[in-house]
Amino acid sequence: MPVPFNDMTRKYLRYADEIDSVAKRVLSSGRYTLGSENDSLEAELASYYNATAVATVGSGTDALFLTLIALGVGVGDEVITVANTCTPTIAAIRLTGANPVFVDVDSERLTMNPEDIERCVTEKTKVILPVHLYGTPANMEKIIVVAKKHGLLVIEDCAQSFGATIAGRHVGLWGDVGCVSFYPTKNLGGFGDGGAVFSDNQALVEKVRQLRMYGEIHRYESITEGTNSRMDELQAGFVRWGLLHIDEWNKTRSDIAQTYIKSIHNALVQLPVDLDTESHRAWHLFVVRVSDRTAFTRHLEENCIGYAIHYPKLVYDQPAYEFLRVDSEHLPVSTSSVGTVVSLPLYPELTEEEVYKVIEAVNSYGK
Ligand SMILES: Cc1ncc(COP(=O)(O)O)c(C=O)c1O
Repeated sequence: MPVPFNDMTRKYLRYADEIDSVAKRVLSSGRYTLGSENDSLEAELASYYNATAVATVGSGTDALFLTLIALGVGVGDEVITVANTCTPTIAAIRLTGANPVFVDVDSERLTMNPEDIERCVTEKTKVILPVHLYGTPANMEKIIVVAKKHGLLVIEDCAQSFGATIAGRHVGLWGDVGCVSFYPTKNLGGFGDGGAVFSDNQALVEKVRQLRMYGEIHRYESITEGTNSRMDELQAGFVRWGLLHIDEWNKTRSDIAQTYIKSIHNALVQLPVDLDTESHRAWHLFVVRVSDRTAFTRHLEENCIGYAIHYPKLVYDQPAYEFLRVDSEHLPVSTSSVGTVVSLPLYPELTEEEVYKVIEAVNSYGK
């Protein structure tokens, strides 16, 4: 039997009774957007993060976009970020009219390299936006030092890192604000789209709440120009239910990752590196690096192992963002790593037998 890279039906089938009862509760409530499920989810997320306030929104992209707008980022401003991220990080910045400025990533974590930030700071820079890619915390201790030195805001893209911590504190609370996604494949995924903004800055979260609902302070009274980015009640209900399981799911992800690390022995395959003891990954993805990706993925296919590439190109190498391209010599690690990354199956419903099939296939590569 093939090992699928991911299979969302397994989660539903495993918990069908619980999920169906959430759906029934919400559908029979008569309230389908921004109601009591969203209110409760905001309170429960705030308590989980130990954050002052949370605003739910329509997606992780909107969490970033509305946060940037709420912080006053607009046309001509510069936002320092990374090029090896998922497209929506860059889409959210561009939708405000601001320009992303790319710094390199560190060769071990593949997250923002704090040493490269100052090279890119100009008088137009407003924000530093690190991405906790694959669930790996970026080096926030150093990033916030640079941000403070230059008076810059820090927005953390936590779409892939629900549950990741540094020194016991959740990522997203190291900077000014954290943005998460509840896209189905995420660690805390719903069964549709959703996102949230969390922060100790209550006023900022209030502003996002206005922006997500036509800029209204109360019904039919817009005090700012907003949009519609309401999270629906069904998704809020599903994510509330997921919050009851998230620690157990993240633990299973971590156990599978540790089994891969202990059991994969192949000099042609580079495993994710150990972090300092203070940082804990959320293990959203298990990403290995290989020099001949075509040969490696062919081998996985021959052994019926699903895989994915996160991501095949740096964002500025995609047609829509070519105008942002920078000279590759400025981003040596981003440029050299992008052709080497391969994500192996990693989700809580993976069976032990499947985990060992993946290990066997990876170990036999090149032999
Ligand atoms: C790093 C990163 N940022 C932002 C997003 C956007 O989230 P969403 O798909 O919920 O809009 C994603 C999700 O795919 C992501 O992986």
